[in-house]
Amino acid sequence: MYGSEKVPDGSERTAFRKAEKKYKLYYDDTSKSSKKKKQPKPVDLSEVLDFKSILESYNQSGDLPPGILSLQCDFNFPVFSLENRPGFYFIPRALSIEEQCQWIRESLTTFPQPPNRTNHNAFYGPINDLFIAAKEKKVLVEEGNGPTSLDSKCNPSDSNGDVHGWEFYEGHTVSSRGNTCKSILASVLLRKLRWSTLGLQFDWSKRNYNISLPHNKIPDALCQLAKRMAAPAMPKGEQFQPEAAIVNYFGIGDTLGGHLDDMEADWSKPIVSMSLGCKAIFLLGGKSREDPPLAMFLRSGDIVLMAGDARECFHGVPRIFTDKEHAEITPIELQFSHGDDLCFLEYIRTSRININIRQVF
Ligand code: OGA
Ligand code: MN
Repeated sequence: MYGSEKVPDGSERTAFRKAEKKYKLYYDDTSKSSKKKKQPKPVDLSEVLDFKSILESYNQSGDLPPGILSLQCDFNFPVFSLENRPGFYFIPRALSIEEQCQWIRESLTTFPQPPNRTNHNAFYGPINDLFIAAKEKKVLVEEGNGPTSLDSKCNPSDSNGDVHGWEFYEGHTVSSRGNTCKSILASVLLRKLRWSTLGLQFDWSKRNYNISLPHNKIPDALCQLAKRMAAPAMPKGEQFQPEAAIVNYFGIGDTLGGHLDDMEADWSKPIVSMSLGCKAIFLLGGKSREDPPLAMFLRSGDIVLMAGDARECFHGVPRIFTDKEHAEITPIELQFSHGDDLCFLEYIRTSRININIRQVF
């Protein structure tokens, strides 16, 4: 998702790549012939730093493992940092369950709305109300081919030569017409949603911010939250100015390859990164891919800050856990277990969402 230069090919064997392979989801093929569901290969998680247990023992006894520091902040919860990774901060359980649910809702409904761009823009153009369309089992059909059109042929362009847009139709009206049109289920598109961008729009093809693209300001509530959370990593006397955010959507088996976020002008300002939904493993490397990365769990509600030196460290997400035992999303599931919210429940059971907020200039 970050362009090929961020994901080295299989022949490369850096320390970072080795760690990615160690934690990545593989399936046991021993049960191939049987009818049993394929099982994820067990991985050794003994070296994964666990800030949940660090927080628990810190709250109980004030003790911290070697190399972990706690910061005095205005928050009513602890902020941890790492002795050998200056500029990196971990705020476990920074978001309440209600806040987590709120940001999951926004990430699926309002954040992917135009003019915000998503990975689907390049192929389908702007898509409105994808989540609602998926819920209503709609189908996205290439314009000029819809059920109401007199023209049943699949013309890719109109008389002006413009590329047609795509539009949602009720599922039954499309299926009754046979397979002559280009179409795709909204639910499939929702599963394939990999990113959306808020505020200043990031152009993935050029890997920079395109300030001429139409955009809205970052929503006020998200802006306020990011400003509050960024405080421990900010240069003294300065306030964080959120200008852009990238929302990453991870499904089963999805990963984010090791990369640097180097398109922002001022690296002294932090990236504020919040985790929602299924638990993940985050790799924090050094300034070279040859530096062995530190692995840590990211759970729903955790916030990570990367500023200063840590902005120059390779990082990535080689694994999300979607099984009941390891996903650790029971409180969210309970919140979403009624009526209209069941669609969020169904999505988040096998997904992780990451919102990372940036000051660009
Ligand atoms: C990113 C990123 C980390 C995460 O989007 O640049 O590093 O936790 N995300 O998903
Ligand atoms: Mn990043």
